[in-house]
Formats: sequence, C-alpha cells, structure tokens
Amino acid sequence: MKIIKFVSVAIAIVLFASCTKKENTISSIDKRVDSLISLMTLEEKIGQLNLPSAGAFVTGSVESSDIAKKIEQGKVGGLFNIKTVANIREMQKIAVEKSRLKIPLIFGMDVIHGYESVFPIPLGLSCSWDMKLIERSARIAATEASADGINWTFSPMVDISRDPRWGRISEGSGEDPYLGSQIAKAMVTGFQGNDLSANNTIMSCVKHYALYGASEAGRDYNTVDMSHNRMYNEYFPPYKAAVDAGVGSVMASFNEIDGIPATANKWLLTEVLRNQWGFNGFLVSDYTGVSEMINHGIGDLQTVSARALDAGLDMDMVSEGLLTTLGKSVSDGIVTEQQITEACRRILEAKFKLGLFDNPYKYCDDSRAKSEVFTDANRAEARSTAAQSFVLLKNANNILPIKKSGTIALVGPLADAKENMTGTWSVAARFSESISVLEGLKKAVGTDAQIVYAKGSNLTEDEVLENNSTLFGKGLHRDKRTAAQLREEAVRIAQGADVIIAAVGEAAEMSGEAASRSNIEVPEIQRELIQALVKTGKPVVLVLFTGRPLALAWEDKNVSTILNVWFGGSEAGDAIADVVFGDVNPSGKLSTTFPQNVGQVPIYYAHKNTGRPLSGPWFQKFQSNYLDVSNEPLYPFGFGLSYTTYSYSDIKLSSPGMNASDSLVVSVDVTNTGSREGKEVVQLYIRDIIGTITRPVKELKAFEKIYLAAGETKTVKFTLHQSDLSFYNADLKFVAEPGEFHVFVGGNSRDVKQASFVLK
Ligand code: BGC
Repeated sequence: MKIIKFVSVAIAIVLFASCTKKENTISSIDKRVDSLISLMTLEEKIGQLNLPSAGAFVTGSVESSDIAKKIEQGKVGGLFNIKTVANIREMQKIAVEKSRLKIPLIFGMDVIHGYESVFPIPLGLSCSWDMKLIERSARIAATEASADGINWTFSPMVDISRDPRWGRISEGSGEDPYLGSQIAKAMVTGFQGNDLSANNTIMSCVKHYALYGASEAGRDYNTVDMSHNRMYNEYFPPYKAAVDAGVGSVMASFNEIDGIPATANKWLLTEVLRNQWGFNGFLVSDYTGVSEMINHGIGDLQTVSARALDAGLDMDMVSEGLLTTLGKSVSDGIVTEQQITEACRRILEAKFKLGLFDNPYKYCDDSRAKSEVFTDANRAEARSTAAQSFVLLKNANNILPIKKSGTIALVGPLADAKENMTGTWSVAARFSESISVLEGLKKAVGTDAQIVYAKGSNLTEDEVLENNSTLFGKGLHRDKRTAAQLREEAVRIAQGADVIIAAVGEAAEMSGEAASRSNIEVPEIQRELIQALVKTGKPVVLVLFTGRPLALAWEDKNVSTILNVWFGGSEAGDAIADVVFGDVNPSGKLSTTFPQNVGQVPIYYAHKNTGRPLSGPWFQKFQSNYLDVSNEPLYPFGFGLSYTTYSYSDIKLSSPGMNASDSLVVSVDVTNTGSREGKEVVQLYIRDIIGTITRPVKELKAFEKIYLAAGETKTVKFTLHQSDLSFYNADLKFVAEPGEFHVFVGGNSRDVKQASFVLK
C-alpha cells in the first residue's frame, strides 16, 4: 500500500515538474493542476482558499496572525495589502522555499485608479466616455503595480449606483448599464492585456458581485432587495461584460440578495455567474464577507463557511472561516473534499495562468520597480486623462477659460491640499508628490500672472465630521481660526483680484467606502465662503471636488461658473490649470444624474414612465410628481459643457424599419459652431414604445466621442442590431419585441433629436 502511494506521488511530481517549462495552454494547465492536486493533503487544499491581509490599509478587523508561519505550513493561498518588491519577495520566498509543495502565492491589491501615478477616481474617469483612454489608464496601473510585485487587482468596481448618498458611487462608473459595460470591458482588457502570463499584466477581479450599489438608503453595507427583472436589465450587465471580456476573478459583495448574502448565494454565484454566463475563473469573498454572514444571521462560522463553499465561493478574504472550519465540515459530512478540490483547482489555475509556477518571482524585478513606476510618461498620461474627466456644469458669460494675466485669487479648503488630490482608494499614491491646485496654477502662469491664496474656510464647522472625512493621511490641516476670520482673509485678497477661483467641495474620504452622506450638499461653511466671494462682485469660478453627485441647486443659482473636477489623481493640479486656462477644452459628460435635492434620490434618466407621468408643467395633482420640487434633475445624465458649442442636424435613418436579422444605420451631422476645437460625446438612446414588460423612457445604446475643429461638421453613424433592442423579458429571456422604437441622438440625455422606426 505504502509502495503504491510512494510510486504515484513520484509519478505526479515528475508530471508536475516536467510540465513546468511548457506553455500555459489550457490543457497543459489542466494537467499541471491535476498532478499538483494529487500531491495535496486536504489541509493544503484548504490552505489555498485562504487570503489574509498583510496588514496595511485594512478596511476591517485583521483576523490572521503569524502569517509567515502559516505560509510555511501551506495555510495561505495569497496575500493582499502588501507593497514593494522586497516585501513581496520575502513572502514569496517563504512559500516557494519553505512550504512542503512550494506553491507560489498570488499578491493582490486595490489598484483602483492607477498605482503611484494616480488617475481620476472611477466616477470621474467614466465621465471621459473614452474607452481607449480608460483602457490605457488600467494598462498603466497594471504596468506600475506589476513592476512593484503585485499580480492581482481588486478592480474594476462596476456596481451600478443611482444613489449619491452611497459613498462608493465614487468607485464605479455611474448609473448606466451600457456605459458601465463598455467601461468594465475596457478596464479588464487594460489590466489583463492579451497575455496574462506577461510580467506587466495583472489579473483583474470584477466587484462587487452583485448589486452592491443599490444598498438601501445609500448606507454602506446595507440590505439590497431588487426584482430579477431589474437585476438582469439594469444591474447585471457590467458584471457580465467583465466576464465576457475574460476577467480572471470575481469578488462577491457584502449585501444580501433575495435574503441570502451574496457570499453564500448559490443562485448568484453558481447558477447565474458560472452556468448562465460561463465564468470559469475563481471567486473571492470581500473583506470578512464570510464571517460577516454570522451578523447577517444565517449561522455560525462553520455553517456560513460551508454555505459559502457550497454556493461556489473559492477564496476567503480575511475571515479564515474556510481555513478553520472546512476540515471539520468534511468530517461532519456538510461539504465534500471534492468541493474543496474544485475551489483549490480554480485558484491554482489562476496562478498557472499568471505564470507563477514557472517563475514565482516574475513580478519581483527591482529594475522594473525603479524604472517603470511613477514615470514622467505615466504622470503625463494621468494629467491628460484627468483633464478629460472634468465636467463643466455651468459657464455663464464664458468666464472660463481665464487668461494667464492680472491677479487670480485662489481660495478654498481644497486649494492647497496635496493629500486630497488623488481621492479615495489610492493606497499606493505618493501624497507628498501630488500636484495641488495652488501648485498647478502657479506653474501654469509663471510670471505672467499673480496667484494670491487664502484657505477661506475649513472643510466643515464640525471637527469630527472633518476628521472622519480626511482619514488615511488625507488631512486638510484644519485651521484654528474662526470661520469669520478665515472668510475675511479670503474676501480681502479676493477684492484685489481680477477673478476668483474657489476650490471647494468634498474631501477625498468624504466619499468611498463607509462614507455615506445623508446630506449631499456642499458643507454649509464653504457655502458661506462662496456667498461672501460672490458678494465681492468679482467673477467666481467654482472648482468643485467631489466623489459623488452633489445637490448643487444653490450653487447653480448663485455662482456663474462650475467646473466639476471630481478627484483627478496625482496630477490633478496641473490638469485643473490646463482646463481653467483653456489649454484643454473640457469634454467630460456626466455618467450620473445630479439631483436638485437629496429627496429626489434615486433619480436617473432611464426611468419608467408610470401610469401617471407628468406631462406639461409641474405641479399637477394626481400625477407622479412632488409638491416641493420638480421631477427634473439639476444636470442630466450625459450632460457637460464645452468652451465651444455644437449643433446637431435632424436624424437620418437608413430605413424606416428593420427586420430582426438586419441592421439600421442612424446618422446625424454634428457641427462645431464655436470658435475653437473640441471633443463632443455624441449619444444615442432608444425607447421601446410597447413591450410585454415596461421599458425605460430612454436607454443609452451607443456613443462616440469625436474631435471637431472650429466650424467643422462630421457625420456620425451608429448601426443598431437586434441585440441593441433586446431586453430580458418576464421569463428572463433576452428578446427583441417587434413594434415601434424611438431613437434619440444628442449631446446629453435631455437635449436630443428624435426619430422613429419599426422592428418587424
Ligand atoms: C472593499 C473591497 C476591497 C477590499 C480589500 C473591502 O472592504 O469592499 O472593495 O477590495 O476591502 O481591500
């Protein structure tokens, strides 16, 4: 018996080793995984399912201790929250030199919007509507992260959200399934490239599957309850797009779905993701997502861990529930070793795909770490990308762009705030090297103009709120003077200036994880500052920092110019100067609706019509509207101004109708009617007039960002296919139903040209 076992282990070792030089084709990976698995004990298989945090940047409690020892014992499959080649090499060395089977670790990190060269927060990036640009930002992030030892990123976050109270709206691409899907694809492609085994590509992990952006009342980690119809048509598409793009891993979300937390939801993880969509990578929980199911109230650690495995989860981030209970669950007959083997197999496959078995140190190249991170070229790309993400919300009297001459007063708590430029989830950023607005403006004007600066106000009057909004080293250096003193100083310098730039809004950590707000206005004390500045009679430009749509009705009414700059990344200050002085013409368009007030939330353009739609003027009794605010958003989805203007011709259709197998070409002439070049995002929406289930009043189905010289006209053509007209019906079948469709084209979701056609 012993001899047979010895012989078979020896054969397996030979097979496993003899394959290690071979190419990573699917079948060769399968063979190598099989031979490795045949060598593994149950404990070693369970060990691969364990993902502890290495310590820094925690978002919850740290469950694991003595990680090095655990790695040596084969109880760790990967690590995250660890940075630098030296640190990662040290951990990898333990795994491949001291553990029995020498299985390399996978190293993850939240590389969300850049690494050290930080790009705009995802919500800002999405407003560029430029898929090549977005893909490139992910490519650069992957190059930098991989040069520093990382091979797996917890990105993209593709959660649709229509609730600006939710702080994590900043981490996603806004409210729209179509735009969100295009971005999901671009990000996955950017991170993974077309060869995951290259040393400068990293595995992507789409998150948070699923529906996390619909947490009740916008409160983070809260309950989600949604119809399957809405899931399939509105919230699932971006996750599916990431899967279709070949994403290597998926992260389960914290929230429950149909009463079962996503982490243990078999329908979600296995039926939809694997069976319906064909996902064949591995599934990881979110941070303590497994043990949190005890609080959700579905069982003790052993029960929830077994349920997670049974549902299809492969890897446990931080809880150590799988590590510590699955052995017992096998003996108790609750789960089978086969289920553990399958989960382990998927993790090993990912490591093979990354080429870690061929060279576990392939991402530990000191020379790359020195030469490929935070390079001038990457920073230049981050700068131009940031400028593409800004959205010009208002520019009455064309105050922007301003001239590089005279005296410019720069005021506001975000004006001289390096640490805040990169925004939330920028764990690898070098804060001290970010470009502040003050620096950016000064550099841009040189000696041609004078920049005078005063802080003008703190972030908020409430010191506790300010502290909680400026965590993780993103302090705003609270000024001890009174609000009146700070304001007076600002007004004094503003009075002597030709124009005032007010850098106001949210601090970097006022959005992001566990940063929900019930009041989504600019903090009162900053509004008082703006009011005092407006009173001087000088032109005031708001450079607005935010990680969410804010309720800006007061600002829109009282200030002539608003440039929304989100959090633009490490080069934000230079990018802001580029746009403020007109070296770059803003072209960003909102990927999320800005409400008039928080009471309108959720407000989104692709709403249903209701049985009592408001048509005609507001207010109408017994129609669907509010007594105290109209149904209109302040700024609609797709909206954004430019320093030039565009006009749209009427829509031309290639035919008045289309058969299911045909396509229809929708064309429109777009003219730059202003005096300078610019980029315009041409957007196409449809409405399915009659359906077997109700359909939204508008749905984005195509867009193209075009460049137009002053006076130039271009014809933009979109081709619609049956799939563009399809939706998930009452039986969740993806169908197009014959009948009339409206098609709209314009520069935002509100101001559009309209035509109609029939699907036969
Ligand atoms: C977040 C994830 C993140 C993880 C690891 C969690 O708290 O929800 O988005 O990837 O932490 O840092």
